Amino acid sequence: MIDRNGIEHAIYPIDGLGLNNITSIDGYYVSNGSKSKGARDMTTLLVVESSLFPEGVSASRGVTATFVARWLKKHPETSVVRRDLASDPIRHIDLGLLSGAAKTPAERTPADQVAAEISDQLIEELFAADVIVIGAPMYNFSIPSALKSWIDAIAIAGRTFRYLPDGRPEGLVRGKTVYIIASRGGIYSEGPGTTVNFQDTYLRAVLGLLGLTEVHVIAAERQKMGPEQQAAGVALAERQIEALLG
Ligand SMILES: Cc1cc2nc3c(=O)[nH]c(=O)nc-3n(C[C@H](O)[C@H](O)[C@H](O)COP(=O)(O)O)c2cc1C
Repeated sequence: MIDRNGIEHAIYPIDGLGLNNITSIDGYYVSNGSKSKGARDMTTLLVVESSLFPEGVSASRGVTATFVARWLKKHPETSVVRRDLASDPIRHIDLGLLSGAAKTPAERTPADQVAAEISDQLIEELFAADVIVIGAPMYNFSIPSALKSWIDAIAIAGRTFRYLPDGRPEGLVRGKTVYIIASRGGIYSEGPGTTVNFQDTYLRAVLGLLGLTEVHVIAAERQKMGPEQQAAGVALAERQIEALLG
């Protein structure tokens, strides 16, 4: 559980946002899991990519592709939705997006509506997913800014989490499994690197805030340590996929 650290936060009760597959509990939106007939037995897998590099070069894209192929073999009744944050970047959060996204449609001005559009779309994608795979390269000990922009657009108080009367946050995106495909140039899973790993540790924390607590990390380390180490890092990640998916 993440504490508030004494920071004052407003509570945003939301009415009538009308997002698909979302229902209201106590005025807040949570996934209702009620898909249309036909889609009911279909699993939705949301794949979020953020490497600057194309498939064939990027380790995270390569391992993500392996994951999706294995997943589809096991669960052919899966609809895959792709969100590529490198080829289709989301703008950095600004005041328009933040305030527009937190308002109900009734409260929104036309400008709010335009500013909030991307946030609405990404939040809808998130709630509609059963399983989420996030390709997350390590950039400067953390995540790419493109991925951070995605997080800033979905982590909206009153939409994907809320503050309880006693100030504790409560995640509203529940019942989903997340797989983080973490690619890294060096080694951060053991040794001194663990103290400066703000990549999957950060993602776990912020996803936890949203209620996404079932998070598995698949790490492709050693990507900048020469061809042999690079291949060994990817092979280990592929073994982790096998162990997780069977
Ligand atoms: C801008 C940038 C910053 C990076 N910073 C780090 C870093 O802090 N630590 C590290 O181990 N590797 C770092 N790397 C190396 C990448 O994590 C590594 O190449 C990884 O494979 C990138 O993911 P991708 O292959 O999916 O693109 C950095 C690479 C780039 C392009």
